[in-house]
Amino acid sequence: MLTKLHFLSLLLRNTNHFGMSKIETLDEFILKRQDEHTDSSGSFSRLLRDIGIAAKIVNREVNKAGLVNILGVEGSQNSTGDEVQKLDVFANEKFIETLSMSGEVCGIASEENMEFIIPEIPAHKKPQYIVVMDPLDGSSNIDVNVSVGTIFGVYKRISPDSGPVQKEDFLQKGSNMVAAGYVLYGTSTLLVYTTGNGVNGFTLDPSIGEFCLSHRNIKMPEAGNYYSVNQGYYLKFDLEMRRYIDHCSDLNLRLRYIGSMVSDIHRIMFQGGIFLYPNTRKYPQGKLRLLYECYPMSFIVEQAGGMALSCKLERILDLEIKKLHETSSIVMGSSKMVREMKEFVEKYSAIN
Ligand code: AHG
Ligand code: MN
Ligand code: MN
Repeated sequence: MLTKLHFLSLLLRNTNHFGMSKIETLDEFILKRQDEHTDSSGSFSRLLRDIGIAAKIVNREVNKAGLVNILGVEGSQNSTGDEVQKLDVFANEKFIETLSMSGEVCGIASEENMEFIIPEIPAHKKPQYIVVMDPLDGSSNIDVNVSVGTIFGVYKRISPDSGPVQKEDFLQKGSNMVAAGYVLYGTSTLLVYTTGNGVNGFTLDPSIGEFCLSHRNIKMPEAGNYYSVNQGYYLKFDLEMRRYIDHCSDLNLRLRYIGSMVSDIHRIMFQGGIFLYPNTRKYPQGKLRLLYECYPMSFIVEQAGGMALSCKLERILDLEIKKLHETSSIVMGSSKMVREMKEFVEKYSAIN
């Protein structure tokens, strides 16, 4: 039976007759842009499409998270006798499973796994792509129904494809990424990604189960009214960062901090502002992971016209990486504000 929602979606999809533009799904968009991608075989397009599929599966589960008391808590058994999993473990497994089966991926590194994973590869295939990911970002938000996300980045392998991938394939600088994206499981679910030709956003239409192009060629404002930092660690930041945060407060910027990098950056992408996760006494090298969080988010932010630096004022995408789980401090967001932060810190460090 045709539900009201289905009817509305069908109507929307065929709106040309009514003078409105037709909805473009993620798959259609990817196909149209296939020639912009790094290969012409369609392999990269299929990989992106598979990431979209994994995101939909995780989205379904995120949406059920509030039912945990009914469906059972982690470690217990649900009504069908399956063990109930933590959502970050579930998301990790689903992404790994989907990417492994895609046949387009020769290596996966996840924030949730100590070592990288080599999927089984069909004999006739020689996949070139490496995926790095934070399957569930902002995991402390799940139990309280606040937004979480997924972050991913894609590299091309650099080792010869006659053998399995090597660690060096993963330890590439962020500037080598060929694609990066995030999924925001929020009031609606959005997939935002770049292949180095701008950033586009797709909103999941639950009635048809498709990501539909909703934000074409996203450009973040050059400046905005928001700063986003865990102010609770204020006393644990270096002096110049403390002074810069005071400066943000002096400027009457509004403080917003969700505790999920994806959600905090997403606000800034659209409303402008600056996001900071400086090094602290507990995390002298910073807390956020270069490979799974900082590189991909910096790639997206730069493609949207923003900037991303470490607290040592180096461009994040140019940082060398030595370990899979290496971390970095980070300041990112609207270009004018990040540039001003840099000048502020340089000036402040010079007089002290
Ligand atoms: P994850 O849930 O993947 O471990 O990531 C959480 C990260 C990041 O998303 C967020 O900005 C930051 O950790 C929050 O950390 P604090 O609670 O220390 O502020
Ligand atoms: Mn994270
Ligand atoms: Mn995570």
